[in-house]
Amino acid sequence: HNNEATLNERLYALCNFLRESIPHYDWVGYYFRNGDKEELKLGPYVGAPTEHTIIPFGKGICGQVAVSNENFVVPDVTAQDNYIACSIHVKAEIVIPLFVNGENIGQIDIDSATPDPFTKADEALLEFVNEKVAGLMA
Ligand code: SME
Repeated sequence: HNNEATLNERLYALCNFLRESIPHYDWVGYYFRNGDKEELKLGPYVGAPTEHTIIPFGKGICGQVAVSNENFVVPDVTAQDNYIACSIHVKAEIVIPLFVNGENIGQIDIDSATPDPFTKADEALLEFVNEKVAGLMA
């Protein structure tokens, strides 16, 4: 382990590892609550650049998870009316909240070009990953 790596460097490496390891993960990134504002700010990510670097609470899948504190699995993004499209190639999305000391402080967001690819195994994996990330941030 490189103890000199910053949190953002570790999160970037983690996103890259997940995307390289799992075929149906095409865009992997973290959003974090932006200070005291009711909005999310894009953190480390891998995949196509997105113009959605700030997302208000309640908007899109990500903004809804910021408010609900619940996992959000979207098998078909075209069936969602509160959805922010980042790329025309995206067919499905999963967002898992990140809790530090019991507080929802951000989330991991994954887009897939494969229709309906996410299972309970993805939720379990990403919950585990976020518990480890929380341990780095606590
Ligand atoms: N689709 C997300 C926006 C973020 S992009 O997927 C990177 C949403 O609806 O919140």
